[in-house]
Amino acid sequence: MRDIKVTPIRNGTVIDHITCGQALNVLRILGVNENNIDSTVSVLMHVPSKKTQWKDVVKVEDRELDPKTVDKIALISPNATIDIIRDYNVAEKHRVVLAPRVKGLVRCGNPNCITNKREPVEPEFAVDNQSPMVLRCIYCDRIQNNITDHLI
Ligand SMILES: Nc1ncnc2c1ncn2[C@@H]1O[C@H](COP(=O)(O)OP(=O)(O)OP(=O)(O)O)[C@@H](O)[C@H]1O
Ligand SMILES: [Mg+2]
Ligand SMILES: [Zn+2]
Repeated sequence: MRDIKVTPIRNGTVIDHITCGQALNVLRILGVNENNIDSTVSVLMHVPSKKTQWKDVVKVEDRELDPKTVDKIALISPNATIDIIRDYNVAEKHRVVLAPRVKGLVRCGNPNCITNKREPVEPEFAVDNQSPMVLRCIYCDRIQNNITDHLI
């Protein structure tokens, strides 16, 4: 029993190569909390990775991710891989892709920004840099720090 592995999932999603330390934020994005876990969720933090030195991994049974969820994961973990598991095998593998602009994923922290007024303007940010992630509001130019706390 030197090499104990997590229970394989029959169907679901493995979010692999998560930036080390971001697994709990990925759970937040997935909306996993004490009231709604009804299938297996495995969380691995700080495990060895071939590509980088360390990574986190999240495995969710009986769930496939919608594009908006994947885009949010890309914002906090630009190198993540989304592996779709079907009948215990990796059926699909996708790298998350971050567009040069992200719309409707993050709120602007500037209370005077037009996106925080009554106007129906969806917040939109330019991705000025990926590592570290720098998001700039295209309306008020505010650089949004602490992206996880501003995810919609
Ligand atoms: N049935 C399963 N249940 C749980 N996790 C699984 C299952 N099948 C594969 N995985 C996990 O999914 C991830 C991708 O599996 P894969 O076999 O593609 O590994 P890999 O060759 O290391 O891929 P990569 O090159 O993306 O690192 C791994 O973290 C693996 O542990
Ligand atoms: Mg691997
Ligand atoms: Zn703004």
